[in-house]
Amino acid sequence: HRIRGEHLFKGNLLHVDMLDNEDEQDFNNMKLKKEDIIVSAYPKSGTTWTEEIVWLINNNGDIEAAKKTPLYMRFPFIEVKQAFSAIRTMPSPRFIKTHLDYPAFSAMYDSNQTDRPKVIYVVRNPKDVAVSFYNFYKMNKNLGSFTGPFSEFLSMFMEGYVVLGDYFKNVLGWYEASIKDDHILLVKYEDLKTSPLEQIKQIAGFLEKDLGDDVLTAICDHVSFANMKANPMVNYEGFPIMDHNISPFMRKGEIGDWKNYFTTEEDAAFMKLYQEKMKDTSLTFAFE
Ligand code: PPS
Repeated sequence: HRIRGEHLFKGNLLHVDMLDNEDEQDFNNMKLKKEDIIVSAYPKSGTTWTEEIVWLINNNGDIEAAKKTPLYMRFPFIEVKQAFSAIRTMPSPRFIKTHLDYPAFSAMYDSNQTDRPKVIYVVRNPKDVAVSFYNFYKMNKNLGSFTGPFSEFLSMFMEGYVVLGDYFKNVLGWYEASIKDDHILLVKYEDLKTSPLEQIKQIAGFLEKDLGDDVLTAICDHVSFANMKANPMVNYEGFPIMDHNISPFMRKGEIGDWKNYFTTEEDAAFMKLYQEKMKDTSLTFAFE
């Protein structure tokens, strides 16, 4: 299976609408600022959810404002060519989404400088990521409208031959960076799901925003799965490259859906790979 116009950009596998060699110099020269706020994640890990939370916290819980502009315009996706150009002329504070791995993304700032930007990195257990990614591969034209079975996609995922590359490389690179750098906050999808208000408070603290409990509770309610699924400003409704009849972007939003997809054999093979890849890290996941 091939994605449309696939190519490598700084070691990350990207599709036709995304940055390529021609953009590399501009990318390296674009220095990020102290005021910039980044949401980074491996695909399908809760990026959109976290972006809406972060945008609202930084805009003092202005839900009416959030309902006026699509999230992809409030929070442009830096490795998409069009968004990259827009970001370069955006006023501060700039909200930036990325799925790039740590070495590629951190080329844009000096991690020893005190004026480096803040990054919220979201992680999700890889089995649910694989399932979400599989359904996304089917509905997304740029990813080649995948028609194969889950088993075929799982092999690609385990080999790291998917858009944005290997899950473990992305997650472990950012995780190790978050341990050393207090400007990177690690948030787990599973924690956001089981204790959203607590996690939202933690993100607000990280962003040094002192909002009242009523504001934080209103944000928490606004970003529930049911509300986000029904919200055209965040659910990618009408996005030309996505066919929501095949699978909606806001698909299920649960922990443990992998059990409906993995066979016992696939789970055993996956966990073997998982244990190898994760043997030297303190990062752990809730799988259910
Ligand atoms: S992308 O395309 O990489 O930016 O996708 P991303 O936003 O990272 O991940 C999409 C998955 O996140 C789920 N999601 C949520 N889950 C729970 N609550 C809320 N509010 C929420 N918003 C998005 C979304 O449904 C995708 O997961 P799956 O498992 O496919 O449902």
